[in-house]
Amino acid sequence: MSDRFYPAAYTKTIPQGEVCWQAPSNIALIKYWGKKEIQIPRNPSLSFTLTACATRTSVGFSLRTDHSSDYSIDFYFEGEKKEDFLPKINTFLKRAQPYLPFLSTYHFEIRSENTFPHSSGIASSASSMAALAICFVDIERQLLGLPEEALDHTKASFIARLGSGSACRSVQGKIVEWGVHEETNGSSDLYGIDWEEEAHEIFKTYHDTILLIDQGEKQVSSTVGHGLMEDHTYAERRFSQAHEHLSQLQEALRSGDLESFTTLVELEALTLHAMMLTSNPSFILMKPNTLKVIRRLQHFRETSGLHPCFTLDAGANVHILYPDSEREEVYQFIKNELVGYCENGGYICDMVGNGAKKINASASKTLVK
Ligand code: PMV
Repeated sequence: MSDRFYPAAYTKTIPQGEVCWQAPSNIALIKYWGKKEIQIPRNPSLSFTLTACATRTSVGFSLRTDHSSDYSIDFYFEGEKKEDFLPKINTFLKRAQPYLPFLSTYHFEIRSENTFPHSSGIASSASSMAALAICFVDIERQLLGLPEEALDHTKASFIARLGSGSACRSVQGKIVEWGVHEETNGSSDLYGIDWEEEAHEIFKTYHDTILLIDQGEKQVSSTVGHGLMEDHTYAERRFSQAHEHLSQLQEALRSGDLESFTTLVELEALTLHAMMLTSNPSFILMKPNTLKVIRRLQHFRETSGLHPCFTLDAGANVHILYPDSEREEVYQFIKNELVGYCENGGYICDMVGNGAKKINASASKTLVK
């Protein structure tokens, strides 16, 4: 199955060069929670690709002369050299090596920075792994002597998945599905597929205002969280429920049915948290203000007749999703009634976007020190 991602023989020798890409974060509507090795999901998921929350990564590469280690990497995060990120990058490169054989033959200088504050409680693994993966696939494109437009986005998603599962949904398309789902042609456990074309127009300009309820470090790492699903009492039922929810959500996404959309998206968010509440050990990731925001939002929806709904990641922050046609009223409501529950009044205005984009390397110099 993954044979498709082994490259043809490289036709070019490139002594050195640089590529730079920006990849966005994504917010899952159907949640991925539980996996088999390596980042094979136990159930299919579907997400909105975001715009504002993104990682910009440049990769400088030069042929190695010293082969004393498997890989040769200098990694800088927001301008500062970070040795502690190297083990994670090394693991990622090892997994990607069979599909990107040039990785062991070059020295890499990787410079990465996020467009959102480091301490916002927003996980950056999806955007950072997607940006890095697409940089590597772009370098390989050059070694194969292929033009820019031949860049293999599916391979970039496949490689991103090896770094962090949800990263495979951050490469291309506004709405991305990942994981085998009987009713979706072309769905795969190995990479994300663009689901945008099938969706009603209303979802292509959806807003996501992220309320930063708790800006601290994540209480449960994804690795631990996925692991907790292994012998979870409700795991098998949850995995089949995700298939059912995905079929129902696809229906709502096609028809533009905002009532069903709301019901399913909120149910998925609460189910993710229910899984953590009922695992052993268990985790309570919502904060009192998370619940207050949810209650207020649901009350506003009932009284206004508008359609904002919430979703949650594996943390206390609340994503408020709403259509562009309702942006003024919903944004006013958020500012007047919800921002007070955020830590230091912090929130991020984001919306559905197209996926990763290439930054020309000289422009990247002004940003990446
Ligand atoms: O990609 P990971 O291993 O960090 O897992 C992400 C899991 C959730 O964000 C909680 C849900 C999802 O589907 O993105």
